[in-house]
This record gives sequence, C-alpha cells and structure tokens, in this order.
Amino acid sequence: MVRKEEGSDRLVSREGNPDDQVGELEGEKSLRPAVLREYVGQTKIKENLRLFIEAARLRGDALDHVLLAGPPGLGKTTLAHIIAQEMTSQLHTVSGPNVEKKGDLAAILTNLQPRDVLFIDEVHRLPKAIEEVLYSAMEDFKLDLIMGQGPGARTLRIDLPRFTLVGATTRTGLLSSPLRDRFGVPLRLDFYPHEELQQIVERSAGLLGVDIEPEASLEVARRSRGTPRIANRLLKRVRDFAQVRAKSSRITLSIAQDALKLFEVDGRGLDPLDRKFLRALLEKFDGGPVGIETLASALGEERETLEDVYEPYLLQEGFIQRTPRGRLATRIAYEHLGLPGAKTLPVQDKLFE
Ligand SMILES: Nc1ncnc2c1ncn2[C@@H]1O[C@H](COP(=O)(O)OP(=O)(O)OP(=O)(O)O)[C@@H](O)[C@H]1O
Ligand SMILES: [Mg+2]
Repeated sequence: MVRKEEGSDRLVSREGNPDDQVGELEGEKSLRPAVLREYVGQTKIKENLRLFIEAARLRGDALDHVLLAGPPGLGKTTLAHIIAQEMTSQLHTVSGPNVEKKGDLAAILTNLQPRDVLFIDEVHRLPKAIEEVLYSAMEDFKLDLIMGQGPGARTLRIDLPRFTLVGATTRTGLLSSPLRDRFGVPLRLDFYPHEELQQIVERSAGLLGVDIEPEASLEVARRSRGTPRIANRLLKRVRDFAQVRAKSSRITLSIAQDALKLFEVDGRGLDPLDRKFLRALLEKFDGGPVGIETLASALGEERETLEDVYEPYLLQEGFIQRTPRGRLATRIAYEHLGLPGAKTLPVQDKLFE
C-alpha cells in the first residue's frame, strides 16, 4: 500500500520535499538542525535523549534502539540525524518499503560499525519476513542466515556489531508488537505549540537571511498546523510574496496575511484539501458518523492518506472526532466553514445516543 503522493501541488503538505534543504545554488545552509541544542521544542524528548546518549557514550556502548513516532513533518528524520551526530557515529538510512529481500538487510547490517545508527524510515512498512530478521539483530546482535534449501539447509549465525536502530513511523498502531517491544526508547512527537513554531520560523528566517517582524513570524507559525516542515515552507512562500508582490525586504504582519490569503491557507492553517475533507463530512454525510473507507472513496483518496496526513491535525484541533461508528464533525467544523446546520446536541451527547 503506497501512501498517495499529493505533496507537490499542496502548499501545506507534510510529505518530504527537497524544499526542506536549502539549495546549494542559493548558497544557503540547510534549515535542518544538526545538533540537539538547535532542535526547537519537544523538551521531554530532548531531555531523555540527552541523558541516554550521554550514558551510552560514557559506557562506550551503542545507544539503545529508538522508535520515533508522529505525524509527517514533525522532525523524526531530523532527530535520527541528530542522534548519529551526537553519538559521533555514522548514519545509514533506508526506507522500510525499499528493503525487499533479506539479503538487502543482511548486507546493510553486516556493514555496520560498532555504535553506528541504522535509520529505518517508515519502519511499519517493512515486509514481514524482513522484520523477522530484525528481531534477533536488535535483541542479540546476531544475524541468522539460512544457507541452502530443503533438508540440507543450515542456519549460519553471524555476530553483528552493537548498533542502534532508529525507526520512524507515522503511526505506531501499524507496527507489530514484537518489533515495537524491541525498541528500548520509544518516543512520540507531538504537534508544536505556536510559540515553538515561531522560534523555528525565526531560526529559519535567520538562516535564509530574511527579515521578518515578530507579529509576522507568529502569524506564519499559527497557520502551520503545529508542523515545522509546513512552517518552513510557508515562510519561504511568504518571503517570495514579499519580494515580488509587496516589493518589501521586511516581512510585516500584513504582508504575511496577504500572502497566506493568496495561498488559501486559512486562519487555522487549513488548506483547500482540509476544507474539502471537512466539507465532504458535513455536506455529504451530514456531519457523520461515517466510516473512514466511505469518506476516503467519496474524496477519491486512500484511507492511509486521510489517516496519516489529514486527520491528526483535524483531530487535535477538535474539528473532528473518532468514534466507534466512524468520523464525526464537531461544532467547530461547522463554525469554521461558516455552514449552518450544526447539530444542536452537544457533541458528547451525540456520542452516546
Ligand atoms: N524541532 C525542530 N526544530 C527546528 N526545525 C525542525 C524541527 N523539526 C523539524 N524541523 C524542520 O522541519 C523539516 C521536516 O522535518 P523532518 O524531515 O525531520 O520530519 P519527519 O518527521 O521526518 O517527516 P516525515 O514523516 O514526512 O518523514 C526539517 O527539514 C527541519 O528543517
Ligand atoms: Mg522523515
């Protein structure tokens, strides 16, 4: 199952994008923080990591395996890079669905040096057979290879260096429990509060050499759905607008507002596709509850796309609720879209009717 790529035409998409790395041609540095100190927010996670990394370093051992879970664009890949950097070890990166054969994984594992970090992105999409190879690799640092076939087959046990597996997933629910249980350090990233996103916008503006008023950076932050990737992307588009349309070298609040209006990002950070999601729920299904599959086919989207990309923020901001009978729009959704017909019953009553 491939998550649908709808990133390219969507300004507030959370898919990875080369935009995250400032082009070499521009002569600008990457916006991605390289060390823990530069990583904004997620205080608890940073505190934990700092402690575990220091302890591992003192012991001269590899860091325990780390699972990073959270919606797209919150900084999982960034943290994986930072972990390797802070451990002064080498980072090796693969993506779950790209590891097709056991041999591929065996080659990667046997090439690791002690304390290296193996980053497996989309770890929930590893093929089952490959996942099973990981169990003993993670637990005992052993690789079991089966040589030959049939009755003559023999198992060859290879010692692996002590390494750190860093797995990233957008949804922990999709991870099998034997795999999940083998991560000693499970970390869950949350959406960022506005003040932290504002810090990220200002940090990025500094790196990009963009002059932005605090009111404007807060405005960009407020409309970035708690997501650093979106904050950086909006900042760059607002910068373009300021340069071309407003002919201003400084991004003011009104320039930011005009730009965001042009890009159809509304006051709550919802873009046209989010609003399409809410509109379908409200207009086609009378606010729900409606099953996710039904909603997905009405929108012509994959269920996974709705669950990974649209829903987390809409849920967190209280536009929708997940109920045993399906998705339900809340009063906030009706009010936000300016639609009449908000159910008169309070949401809680409706849930238990
Ligand atoms: N805590 C942070 N402080 C500053 N910048 C951040 C932070 N987290 C993320 N970013 C910025 O947001 C961008 C996106 O982050 P990243 O690629 O790590 O997200 P991700 O969680 O791996 O997303 P995906 O699930 O789509 O792979 C980074 O390039 C970085 O510039
Ligand atoms: Mg990533």
